[in-house]
Amino acid sequence: MARKAVITAGTGGIGLETALGLTEAGYAVTVVGRNAQRGAKAVETINARGGETARFLQADLASLDAVRALAARITAEGELDVLINNVGAMFAQHTRIGGVEASYVVNHLSPYLLTESLLPVLTGRVVNVTSSAVVVAKKAFDSVEPPGGYYGFHWYGRAKLVNLAYTLDLAGRQTRVPVIAADPGAAATDMTDGTLRDPKMVSPALRLLWPVVGYTFERATSRAASEAARSPIRAATDDTLPTGTVLGSRATPAKPHRAATDPRVQQAVRRLSERHAPLDHVPDGVSN
Ligand SMILES: NC(=O)c1ccc[n+]([C@@H]2O[C@H](COP(=O)([O-])OP(=O)(O)OC[C@H]3O[C@@H](n4cnc5c(N)ncnc54)[C@H](OP(=O)(O)O)[C@@H]3O)[C@@H](O)[C@H]2O)c1
Repeated sequence: MARKAVITAGTGGIGLETALGLTEAGYAVTVVGRNAQRGAKAVETINARGGETARFLQADLASLDAVRALAARITAEGELDVLINNVGAMFAQHTRIGGVEASYVVNHLSPYLLTESLLPVLTGRVVNVTSSAVVVAKKAFDSVEPPGGYYGFHWYGRAKLVNLAYTLDLAGRQTRVPVIAADPGAAATDMTDGTLRDPKMVSPALRLLWPVVGYTFERATSRAASEAARSPIRAATDDTLPTGTVLGSRATPAKPHRAATDPRVQQAVRRLSERHAPLDHVPDGVSN
């Protein structure tokens, strides 16, 4: 039987290209997204590359209840070889979901909760998709929202840094399932087209340099999503990579951001994650 992989946000962008790569490597892939039509089209595209094994599961991964329901469904099916937490989002406006800041929910709490919930059935590995935007993050980890004004790109980078700290913490806490972080590098996708063209996404200091910053973003994000997917594909399929490896945008091991390796940061991240995405939470209307 084919090995099974789940790829979140796998119906478009880097996620779809990752799903294609895993299909070519012989995996039966499940792609998760919000839009059923997009899901059906993705399944058609993937199956055209290899067999009839792909399927779509609908879930809005910005909803922690939807993440719990997705995890319950996958768990009921038994063992899972690979989980690729590819979902990510950048928000132009300061937004909250269920009272919690949206970048933090989608880029960290959602993949955290899915991973922790699926650990008992995982047999292969976890890949968490990270970003070089971690370098612009405010190094404050005791609260969901960092101090200072809201700048979408910086808060996105901070949520990705939080998730990277979680990734390395999980790799250190257990050895049964290898955990790898993969930075795809910039690429032309819905996410970058919709957000990185607005100077309000960056801090006032960088806004002053917008002609340079905007041009740099535009050039970097002209890269194809298929090229960006090389890093997560390698992370998922190269069994020689030790747990805790961070792959850079060229799909080769890179030095992790220092803050993500700090045990105090990892502890703070664990505390906040447990508080805002409790594993024993039962959604309203669902009995235990
Ligand atoms: N693009 C870049 O330059 C870049 C650079 C570094 C890192 N990354 C990281 O790479 C990953 C993929 O990025 P991308 O640029 O390919 O993103 P993207 O363009 O937003 O990805 C599109 C896919 O995400 C799905 N999706 C979006 N929000 C979702 C949600 N709430 N629940 C479920 N599915 C959702 C979409 O399906 P539906 O619309 O049907 O939901 C679609 O399948 C992210 O983690 C991102 O942070 C990207």
